Amino acid sequence: MCGIYGITAVPNTNIVPWGMAGIRRLEYRGYDSAGFALQNSAELTIIRSVGDINALRDAVSGHTLVSSVGIWHTRWATHGAPSERNTHPHTGCDTRFAVVHNGTIENHDALRRVLTAAGHRFTSETDTEVVAHLLEMEYRGNLAEAMRAAIHQIEGTFALVAITADEPGVIVASRRSSPLAIGILPDARLIASDAAAMAIHTREVVHLEDYDIATLSPTSHMIVDAGAVTRMRPSQAIELEAESAEFGGFPHRMLFEINEQPAALSNSLRGRIIAREGHVRFGGLAAVEKQLSAIEDLTVVGCGTAYHAALIGAMYIEAYAGLSATAVLASEYEYRRTSSRRNSAMLAISQSGETMDTLLAIKGGKDRGILTLGIVNRVGSAIARLTDAGIYNHIGPETSVASTKAFVSQVTLLALLAIHLGRQRDLIRTDAERMLEAVLRLPDKITTALAQSDHVRAVAEQFGWMQSCLFIGRGYQYPVALEGALKLKEVSYAHAEGYSAGEMKHGPLALVDDRFPTIAIAVRDSRRKKMVANIQEIKARRGPVIAIANPDDSEIASLADATITVPEDDEFLMPVLTAIPLQLFAYWMGVSRGINVDKPRNLAKSVTTE
Ligand code: F6R
Repeated sequence: MCGIYGITAVPNTNIVPWGMAGIRRLEYRGYDSAGFALQNSAELTIIRSVGDINALRDAVSGHTLVSSVGIWHTRWATHGAPSERNTHPHTGCDTRFAVVHNGTIENHDALRRVLTAAGHRFTSETDTEVVAHLLEMEYRGNLAEAMRAAIHQIEGTFALVAITADEPGVIVASRRSSPLAIGILPDARLIASDAAAMAIHTREVVHLEDYDIATLSPTSHMIVDAGAVTRMRPSQAIELEAESAEFGGFPHRMLFEINEQPAALSNSLRGRIIAREGHVRFGGLAAVEKQLSAIEDLTVVGCGTAYHAALIGAMYIEAYAGLSATAVLASEYEYRRTSSRRNSAMLAISQSGETMDTLLAIKGGKDRGILTLGIVNRVGSAIARLTDAGIYNHIGPETSVASTKAFVSQVTLLALLAIHLGRQRDLIRTDAERMLEAVLRLPDKITTALAQSDHVRAVAEQFGWMQSCLFIGRGYQYPVALEGALKLKEVSYAHAEGYSAGEMKHGPLALVDDRFPTIAIAVRDSRRKKMVANIQEIKARRGPVIAIANPDDSEIASLADATITVPEDDEFLMPVLTAIPLQLFAYWMGVSRGINVDKPRNLAKSVTTE
């Protein structure tokens, strides 16, 4: 969702191909239009187009564009439809100033009225355009000062990067809640909303803090903080996860990432389990071990798939660590009065580490004075930096919009965390040993579950007619039902709801008829008997049932219209295994409907606005 990339290099360097390649590295975030501004004369050159980066490339083919300073943006429409005039960069009344923006300017309507009354003419429907006009209005020969004056008038979240025709070689940037980092090279400075996007050019980056104003020129940069004090923010080395070979021979990233799960999970587990001692080791938590042993309650936050992992994690922590644990949607956290006692803690789950709702929840937790922890995939991301301590997934980049391998890793790491917290309390060593042995066997079991892919495809084709369906499960399988429904909605556009099976009689049963399938997760666990009863009540109403069951469960197989099997395991690990056929089901359903499963409509990989 929205990406920023900028470069200022020494004169006679043509940064145009460099910028085009840089903005491509932010494509994974999802966007609907893209543009850039170059500085090389009394006016700036602005190029914008709707669609992907290839459309932007086509828009410039035939032009000779050369510049040593430029700013790029990919836009995910929030204020105003995807159209050329709403695409960034935005300018003021003329093209002396250009600005790109990630985030949301909440008071843009009021600012627009004031600026219009002062004679400014607006050409787009975006909130961002007010910033270009503010820069124009406040400019007295120094872009950084104009930016300072502008951000004092803005409410909301922002990462802003601007150039002006009047200051050759200069890029000015500022942020609040939305990440921005400067990349350092001997004869250039880069700026990007995602530090990893600069990694092919430099590993040395400086992360901006809220309200910093950074002035970049080709061989230096200066950062002035909110109190107008010049700061030497330390540079950091970007830790790069090894890029997985793209697609790995699969037709889509989503299928590649689903099939990558045994290897990805092994990477998550590596070095963290000492099974024969019943011990879990998380290097990233070492500094807060003492505080962890004193925690009395934990709030687990996340969005979408990460929230579904949080629901399972809260159950693990209650069951194995004996703590009170509650999963809360990150976007709902501010409305909740979860505990803020001295021994309360928050755990944020996020693949990207950039999700704005999750970031704001963590800030809320910090305001309440509680310990904040994270389970994050993206190394060095905003959430990884904001939390007091955390655990990395180490599963490599997840680039398909629908989250798959992150979920499996998040749930498994939550199980390990629960065992770890449990061992600090009452969980006995032999139980922990047995559980950890089972965790170590998971990657192989996932491989077995993946071997059902062709059968899952056949089932998806058999039910290709469906418009709407239910996913049901109980206990640990209830969040998996939610996740199965979310995956199906995202990549096949079929309407799907996840329910606790115990709720069927309380309403959803009314939906059931012979055109309304239910996907029932009915593995051999302590809830199986009740799941059988649920399947029977659906069948009694002629509802088609697809069962996710263990092998050789003839009772379930005889009741269901189609059965997909997953290997049997300890009950607490079954959600990892049942998630696999549901991912495959969504994938094959989406493919059979001709949907771009890697980039479903209206969705972005990184949701960096509220
Ligand atoms: C679903 C999906 C989203 C994300 C959610 C949180 O397939 O990808 O629901 O899980 O936007 O994203 P992260 O984990 O990056 O915070």
